[in-house]
Amino acid sequence: MAPGLVHAGHQAGGGVGGCSGPGCLICSFLDTPVRPLGEGGRRGMSYSPGTLAPRRSSPVHIPMPRYRLSHRDAVEWLRTLPESSVDLVITDPPYESLEKHRAIGTTTRLKRSKASSNHWFRIFPNERFPELFTEVWRVLKRDSHFYLFCDPETMFVARPLAEAAGFRFWKPIVWDKQHIGMGYHYRSRYELILFFEKGRRRLSDLGVADVLPVPRIHRGYPAEKPPALSEVLIRQSSSPGDVVVDPFMGSGSVGVAAARLGRDFLGTDICDEALDISHMRLRAEGAVPEEAADAHGMRLARSG
Ligand SMILES: C[S@@+](CC[C@H](N)C(=O)[O-])C[C@H]1O[C@@H](n2cnc3c(N)ncnc32)[C@H](O)[C@@H]1O
Repeated sequence: MAPGLVHAGHQAGGGVGGCSGPGCLICSFLDTPVRPLGEGGRRGMSYSPGTLAPRRSSPVHIPMPRYRLSHRDAVEWLRTLPESSVDLVITDPPYESLEKHRAIGTTTRLKRSKASSNHWFRIFPNERFPELFTEVWRVLKRDSHFYLFCDPETMFVARPLAEAAGFRFWKPIVWDKQHIGMGYHYRSRYELILFFEKGRRRLSDLGVADVLPVPRIHRGYPAEKPPALSEVLIRQSSSPGDVVVDPFMGSGSVGVAAARLGRDFLGTDICDEALDISHMRLRAEGAVPEEAADAHGMRLARSG
């Protein structure tokens, strides 16, 4: 097959079996072949394999966003990225304290979801934070920002470890989910986003408040975040054409926000389904996989 074409298995909506790799635009940029999307597709989003969805019309010029996805462990994958090659990191690890909520049953509802697997994902233990933050620091350019989604309990663990890696901690930003959650004592309605800085970078808009009211995603990928939330962070801490990274990308919400704002996106996740969903959503936003972009002389930071 000629490089850059889409495999017939994909064109027909076929699965792994009909999709063998060489030359296929979709297969070749992923670590693993794409599986059929079926019910994993996002509600209300039309997905047409082999075609790029038209970009939304905008009065402002936005560069064509590019992306590359990986299936590797977050830290291992970050190690493959060149030093000082990334403009912004926004990420949402499956932190250890989620296990506790799961154990007492408050996340049972999330175990079953049309748009995701029927199993909750594996947690990323707190003891791995030092290696994660070391790599995030290394890949970020000088004068850049790092946003870490977490809960209040994890904040006390993550903050000193990120500071030990070199980051300056500014403050927690509150995501007001505008929906009261499960529990008994002051039922949960917010999550935190820790705001860190490497060097010195001015926010784009100093008038933005530290409470971001954005409705949560109902019945999405487990712990899925609304792209509108990441859009605020991306506008604040990057410019069009910059490279945004999420090493725990899940359903790719950070990538979707990056694509909407004309930033390039690099992401990884160890879950097959996360990869499929992210790929489908990025294409639907008009983002171009690196292979296709390369054919037009555009190139992202090289990595494994
Ligand atoms: C909280 S979810 C991210 C949700 C995402 N922010 C979204 O909006 O969909 C965490 C993700 O990390 C992935 N994950 C768990 N351990 C990982 C690891 N060691 N490396 C990379 N991804 C991992 C899980 O598969 C899961 O998709």
